[in-house]
Amino acid sequence: MMTVVKKSVPQSSKKNGELQKIAVFTSGGDAPGMNAAIRAVTRAAIANKLKVVGIRRGYQGMIEGDFISLKSSDVSGILQLGGTILKTARSDAFRTPEGREKAYQQLKKAEIDAVVVIGGDGSFTGALKMSQEYNISFVGIPATIDNDMYGTDYTIGYETALNSVVEAVDKIRDTARSHGRIFFVEVMGHEAGLLALNSGIACGAEVILIPESKEQEEELTKFLNKGYKDKETSGIIIVAEGDETGGAMKIADKVRKENPDLDVRVSILGHIQRGGSPTANDRVNATIMGVAAIEALLDDQKNIMIGLANQKIVSVPFNKAVKLNHSIDTNLLDIQRLMQST
Ligand code: F6P
Repeated sequence: MMTVVKKSVPQSSKKNGELQKIAVFTSGGDAPGMNAAIRAVTRAAIANKLKVVGIRRGYQGMIEGDFISLKSSDVSGILQLGGTILKTARSDAFRTPEGREKAYQQLKKAEIDAVVVIGGDGSFTGALKMSQEYNISFVGIPATIDNDMYGTDYTIGYETALNSVVEAVDKIRDTARSHGRIFFVEVMGHEAGLLALNSGIACGAEVILIPESKEQEEELTKFLNKGYKDKETSGIIIVAEGDETGGAMKIADKVRKENPDLDVRVSILGHIQRGGSPTANDRVNATIMGVAAIEALLDDQKNIMIGLANQKIVSVPFNKAVKLNHSIDTNLLDIQRLMQST
């Protein structure tokens, strides 16, 4: 069961107890809005008389003791910046017991009582593991363009990435239409298809291939056999990188072989989806979640992810957030098919 965190206020009246110094870090793939979250965590913590340490380069920096102290002025002017001022990494060393032991020793040496981790699935799995082995509290803020975390409708960076995909596909549409070509456009999302699904709807894609639905390949066949030929037009096929067809390259090769008359191109959008200035929503939600993370720590909550469900702040235990899947609203696929049916 998710529990609702008390309404967020920047200043908490609660006594800090033993909590005196917190650390904040970003981990895994960067996402636009991470800086807004760092700023919110830092300022909410300082407003509650806590000392703040920034850990650079994710878990790798934690192992190496790459710590900096953060003042309010250190997070000034970063709200609108993409990427993460603390940098990020995917650490193999942290996956080992020795790595986590070193990380714990570094946290103790720096007298850090609790840690705010800003990241996705892998980052929270690491936090859960470490909190089971050592007496250290973590609170997570979901930040990934994939929007694949259970228990939250929203992850920081998703909306900015969605807009980046839409902007790129609109441009591809211009050239596709001019040449009468079919474009297979590969969208990120790891094993999840939400970014592909919503960007496909926003761009009027003829077909959207996502890992959550097997029926979509039939839709592609229908489009190639009828839709494209009847309308003598172009086509945009959005392919989620995690789709079981194996990605845009593979499915385009197959289509080319089976339909040598078609003019097929592939565009893999890649890391352009991870950059850019965060949208207003990403900034606002990052700020709200950052404040909620500090409130949760002051309320002695630990090993939970802050989320937004039905526009309310919720807290979700890490073990649920990482083990359960964020489901897709299959109604969206029906709507997309309806849009292409006439
Ligand atoms: O989790 C975010 C994400 O961009 C995924 O969509 C993608 O599969 C992965 O990260 C790529 O990771 P990297 O930048 O390490 O290659």
